[in-house]
Order: sequence, then structure tokens, then C-alpha cells
Amino acid sequence: MNPEFSPFTPGQPVPIEFFVGRVAEIEQLRSLVRSAARGRFKIGFVTGERGIGKTSLVSFVRHLSEREDRVAGAHVFLGGARDVPDMIRRTLDRLLKENVEKPWYGKLKDFFGKHVGEVGLFGISVELKLTQDDLQQLMHEFVPTIRHLLTKLKGERKAFLLILDDINGLAHSAEFANWLKSTVDEIATGEEGLNLCMLIVGLEERRQHLLALQPSLDRVFALTEIRPWDETETERFFTETFRNGSATVEPQALKHMVHYTGGLPVIGHEIGDAVWRAAPTTEITESDARSGIRQAAEIIGSKFLQPKVIDALRSPRYRSILRRIASSPFGFHFRRSELLKLLGDDDKRALDNFLKRLKDLDVIVTDPEAAAGCYRFANRLHYLYFQIESRKAGAETRRGSGPPTFLD
Ligand SMILES: Nc1ncnc2c1ncn2[C@@H]1O[C@H](COP(=O)(O)OP(=O)(O)O)[C@@H](O)[C@H]1O
Ligand SMILES: [Mg+2]
Repeated sequence: MNPEFSPFTPGQPVPIEFFVGRVAEIEQLRSLVRSAARGRFKIGFVTGERGIGKTSLVSFVRHLSEREDRVAGAHVFLGGARDVPDMIRRTLDRLLKENVEKPWYGKLKDFFGKHVGEVGLFGISVELKLTQDDLQQLMHEFVPTIRHLLTKLKGERKAFLLILDDINGLAHSAEFANWLKSTVDEIATGEEGLNLCMLIVGLEERRQHLLALQPSLDRVFALTEIRPWDETETERFFTETFRNGSATVEPQALKHMVHYTGGLPVIGHEIGDAVWRAAPTTEITESDARSGIRQAAEIIGSKFLQPKVIDALRSPRYRSILRRIASSPFGFHFRRSELLKLLGDDDKRALDNFLKRLKDLDVIVTDPEAAAGCYRFANRLHYLYFQIESRKAGAETRRGSGPPTFLD
């Protein structure tokens, strides 16, 4: 079907009306926001692997909170942020830009005073002008600045929801860890509360980095860990999203899509979109699902595997071992000794090189919680890719001989 009408949005944040599941996590985050609106400062950390839906979840929560809890929000992406002053600059810039159309924008503009410049032909876009000195000062006076901002917005907005997303580089910054800690301390020891809810969003290893730099932060973060969708949620995702495109799905087609999605929303969108394109009509059949999933493997490989991983996988031996792992019952976690039993002689000989190479490439890691010789895939994305890829390759070599698998 025409890709233009696909209801799936690979590579993009999910539109609010297409958001699926996560009821408990939404409740948890909203209760932090509501406490902040009652004057109790809250700081949360939202963690989960790549593609699991961290950004989508916090964005959804922000929308709800703005609408129902009278909160002003800013969702700041810190991917390339260098240091704390840069983070402050991005925060205030997002705050200003994201509220341009809101009724309280006049008050916000007042608050920034001479620092707001109107740019663009009709003065439609705004820009915040802050010097390095301003930023240094704002960094040291962050708490009074937020207090002042909230006073300005009184009667309009009850709290400020600040989302710091993709904290990548900053997670390694002692300056950022110390700034967080002193901000938290300053608020905790102050007489008044602060109607601020800060949500920090990042991979679990980023959180660990921050805690290594500033262990006492562990106690202050309210942790929200996003897990893969379960089967029911994944089913709902496909059924509802196809329904949004006025399409229906045969039960067998649904089963395959759910299986290969492995609970990872980012994969769900790639599979859904590929199946949409493969299907000639709005009645999605099992065979549409099969060809869509096969095509999704290509797309996922080229979008998410690094070139050096693709390079290593040119080795037919490595591919053959990966297929063994991906089609074995132990899957995501595996043990060297158990894997060895499944391999032919040539694969056996290559196994240790293979393990070393894939570890160097960060595709697999030794499992720290298990015994020696235990490994797991570093991320679900890779694992799911190999699983789809191995079925596809299996189907191709077996074509015409042996029993068909469902990707044949
Ligand atoms: N609850 C959800 N419902 C529907 N689609 C989702 C949901 N969560 C995430 N997605 C989709 O999955 C993909 C990855 O989500 P994203 O929020 O960017 O993940 P992360 O920030 O954890 O890497 C996006 O294309 C997004 O649209
Ligand atoms: Mg994200």
C-alpha cells in the first residue's frame, strides 16, 4: 500500500493519539509532576534501552501534564551538549520556543526581558540571547531563577516540568553531576519548596556513570525503568495502529509481527511500516506479514547496525554462528558451553574468535550477573535483527528442500 498513508512512524516520536500502553509508567511520572505542583520538588530518572520508548513516554507525560495539571514544560535534547552552561542555554531556549503559542507566553517573555530577540521575516521565531557570563550566573542561580519564573507564571501555571533527554555526554561530566547534587541540596535545605519536576532520560549505563561521579544521587532519583512491551501490548500496538490506517490484520499475520518485534517499539514501527508497504490491500494476510518482516530485516540492518558490525558479518562463519544463537531456545542470553553443543566442527573452531570479535564490537557483552562463559546481546535491537535475519537466510537456503519456516 502507499507508504504515504502508513500509520506507522519509524524513526519519529509517536503522535500522542497513537501512543500505546505504559499505563503504570505514566501514572508513576504523573504522580511526580503532581507532587511538584503541590510544592514538592521531584527528580526522576527514566531509563531503558535504545528504542524502547523513553522519549515518547516523557513527551506523552508532558502533554498530559500541560493539559491537566497546569504545568509549563520544556523537553530538552542534550545529545551534543558540552557542559552545564550549554545545558542551561538549551533549557531556557526550549522553554521559550515551546511556549510561543501558549496564553502565558507574554509573561514568559517578560521574564526573559531584554534577552528575547525576535527573528525571522515577521518576527515569528524567537531567540534567546545569553552571553557566557549570563549562563555562568544562571548556572549558579538556577534555583532562584526557577523560583522567579514560577512567580511570574503564578495564576497560569502551577509547576515547571523540565525534561533533560539524551544526557549522553553530560553523564560523564563531573560538573553536571555536581551541579545536580548541589541543586538538589539547595532545594532540600531551603525553607520553601520548589514547584519543579525534573526528569532525566537516558540509558541505564548513563545513570550508572552519573552515580559513579556522585553516588548520593542514587537516593534522590525516582527511577522509572521502561520494559519491553508484553505480547498483549504489542498486539494492541499492531491492531490499533493498522486500524488507524483503516486496515485489518489476520490472526496469523499478527502473531508473526508480535513475535519478531520482541517488545521493542522501534522494531514494531519498522515491521508495521514494511508490512504496510508489502500488503496490496487493507486486509493484511499472513503472506503480507512474511514479506514485510523479511524487508524489515534489511531496513533495520542498514539503519541500526554500525558499518563495522556489518563488515564483520560478511564472514559466513560468523553469520552461521549468529543464526545458531538467534534460532536457539536460549536466545538473548547464552552460555558458551551450551552454544558449543549446537555447532558443527568448523563453527566450533571459530567460536572463540567470534566471541572476542563481537565483544570488541559491542554486539555482545559478558553477562555480569551470571557465571563465567555467559554472554548476552548488548542491545535488543541487535538481537532482534539477527533473529529476523537468520530466519530469512534459513528460508533462502532451504527453499525447495526441507520443511518451510514461516518466513519462507
Ligand atoms: N508507547 C508507544 N506507542 C507507540 N509507539 C511508540 C511507543 N513508544 C515508542 N514508540 C515508537 O518507538 C520508536 C522509538 O521510541 P523512542 O521514544 O524514540 O525511544 P527511545 O527514546 O527510548 O530511544 C519511535 O518511533 C516511537 O514512535
Ligand atoms: Mg530517545
